[in-house]
Amino acid sequence: GPPGGAVAFPGPTLIARSGRPTTVNWLNHLPRHHLLPVDPTLHQAFSHSTHTIARDGVPAVVHLHGGHTDADSDGHPDAWYTARGVTGPRFSGSRYSYANSQEAATLWYHDHTLGLTRLNVYAGLAGFYLLRDRRERELITCHRLPDPRYERELVIQDRMFHPDGRLAYPDAPAASPAWPGGPSIRPEFFGQVLLVNGRAWPCAAVEPRQYRLRLLNGSNSRFYRLSLDGGRPVPVTLIGTDDGFLHRPLPLTEPLVLAPGERADLVADFRGCAGATFDLGNDAPTPFPDGTPVLPPADKVLRFQVTRPYDARVPEPRLPAALRPGPFRVPRPVTRTRRLLLFEGQDAYGRPKPLLGTVERGTSAWDAPVTETPRPHTAEIWEFFNTTSDTHPIHLHLVSFQVLGRAAFTADQDPAGGALSNIRTEPPEPPDGTETGPKDTVQAPPGRVTRVKAFFDRCGTYVWHCHMLEHEDHEMMRNFQVR
Ligand code: C2O
Ligand code: CU
Ligand code: CU
Repeated sequence: GPPGGAVAFPGPTLIARSGRPTTVNWLNHLPRHHLLPVDPTLHQAFSHSTHTIARDGVPAVVHLHGGHTDADSDGHPDAWYTARGVTGPRFSGSRYSYANSQEAATLWYHDHTLGLTRLNVYAGLAGFYLLRDRRERELITCHRLPDPRYERELVIQDRMFHPDGRLAYPDAPAASPAWPGGPSIRPEFFGQVLLVNGRAWPCAAVEPRQYRLRLLNGSNSRFYRLSLDGGRPVPVTLIGTDDGFLHRPLPLTEPLVLAPGERADLVADFRGCAGATFDLGNDAPTPFPDGTPVLPPADKVLRFQVTRPYDARVPEPRLPAALRPGPFRVPRPVTRTRRLLLFEGQDAYGRPKPLLGTVERGTSAWDAPVTETPRPHTAEIWEFFNTTSDTHPIHLHLVSFQVLGRAAFTADQDPAGGALSNIRTEPPEPPDGTETGPKDTVQAPPGRVTRVKAFFDRCGTYVWHCHMLEHEDHEMMRNFQVR
């Protein structure tokens, strides 16, 4: 919140216009103790501890997720700073500029501090950043999309609470003979209370008309498989993905899977439903896709009650046949294909820990030399070979990518570092219809290679990582350098 002003959870929604740069001075007023238990992590580069926080203050740095941002303003994990002026090795000031040189999109901002992101975001350091453009404006004024008065941005986050209502994040398990290192990492966090915009299982009163819903999975680790149900189906149409519109509106016939970091731009049609109640429900197992089936109450997200009187002065939109001139493509020729690895490695005590690396060399630690170095103004294909047993949402900073598709594969794997040889891939599967718009986070399922194509338009050091924040904080993150 503003200094001395109201504090909001989540943070306020910022609205920007495409083509008009924005400057934000992000001031850190966090105290010298964290709201949540800070366990020292296993890697010494991730060095924030209760002790350093009590001395220096809680570090924070803001990243605009989905933004095509200069490296100085991107919120690199090492660019953190505290209220007491202590700064990380890549700090370059707190005044960030956002070029907004991209199309209308549902972006979001959140903390990205090295080794503390899961706790800072959990405590509330996240909010929406809506980018609007001319094409969207025209679609709205010709009544092809709902009027902004009937637009709702909804961030879904799972949490746990102490009996007195304070936010709870489980303490790290204590030292034991099996885990001699003492406080340990928590491999994932799954809370039983689902919050939408900071409120538990809220009820939204709506008119019997079409609403535009921008959903964001802002959870630490939980995936959602969402459907809207109330005895009879409400037509729901997908109109956009992470970073912009789909070519054509896509009526959803299956539940929508949203991984941490992903967004979905939807139109829900409550026409003719006056008096009815609809629940947005979740049935995604944790971890995804083969984990424990969802337990109540985490199967309930949000209730819509169609109880508001219809305001006939606002025209009902008619969705267009096309929302953009053609399908989203990265049009440039590919200069290089990189084969990247998701591998269940081990921490210093032999416990499983998913990590990133390259297919040829195996996994690399966070501070090992950079291996991904695209040239400026070139397009590359990145292939993510997932040899772990879970789906990981892989996010790249700087770019909006095109999802090319997936293929099942088998390979021989070096048990130590995970390097692959004798890779045999099955015929490629095209992307799902829900992934055909511009994306910045992609679900990489186990046993498959997931392929994306991106254009790298700015120089500098950025990161790519798993967006399950417990994984990101424990080294499922690597730098890449455009140079
Ligand atoms: Cu939304 Cu690097 O993160
Ligand atoms: Cu990002
Ligand atoms: Cu992960």
